[in-house]
Amino acid sequence: MKIAIDGPAGSGKSTIAKQIAKNLNITYIDTGAMYRAITLYCLNNKISENNLEMIENALKNIDLEFINNVIFINKVDVSSEIRSPLVTNNVSNYAKIVIIREFLQKKQKMIAESQSIIMDGRDIGTVVLKDADIKIFLTASVEERARRRLKDLSNEGYDVDKNLLTEEIRRRDEIDSTRTHSPLKKAKDAIEIDTSNMTIEEVISTIEDIIRRG
Ligand code: DC
Repeated sequence: MKIAIDGPAGSGKSTIAKQIAKNLNITYIDTGAMYRAITLYCLNNKISENNLEMIENALKNIDLEFINNVIFINKVDVSSEIRSPLVTNNVSNYAKIVIIREFLQKKQKMIAESQSIIMDGRDIGTVVLKDADIKIFLTASVEERARRRLKDLSNEGYDVDKNLLTEEIRRRDEIDSTRTHSPLKKAKDAIEIDTSNMTIEEVISTIEDIIRRG
């Protein structure tokens, strides 16, 4: 079984996909975490998004692993560092680089080949799991997504201004959906769910109903 969940930042993808994976006892892959990990590596090594030669070299030296929802770069657990505002503010600029996308898409397809999986991201239904059994596209208003992100960030100890956060989400949506290579887009055969006024439990049970109906 292959399930693709796409949507913009803050639409609830990760929380929902993680819980469904647990309920169905299948693997969950957060592809956004992979783009964040590459971004973190580039920022730490002062590799600009414009230096394609250095990025190409970096990709050869990055050993990216997912073990039980923990992400490692060259054996170092970077799961919390990839959530920092610095990475969040830069990730869309690295995620639009073709060699980075092709590198990660290849990896994601390989991971999905041998097992039942639920993957979330921006291009899962359109590119990575084009033949997924179920494709879901989650949306929510920008205001609601900002409210959710603010809550998550404050739980993680970050103090962020709500207006700034809303602008930041708008900017990321714009970069993610207008890039040339595999932009954020609803697949033709995806089912769209607007989660603005739904609880997490409601979204999960709606998707599980869709899965049951096949
Ligand atoms: O879902 P997230 O906020 O952790 O994703 C981080 C960034 O990675 C997001 O701005 C867009 C990019 N991304 C992508 O381009 N393609 C994916 N499949 C997943 C994420």
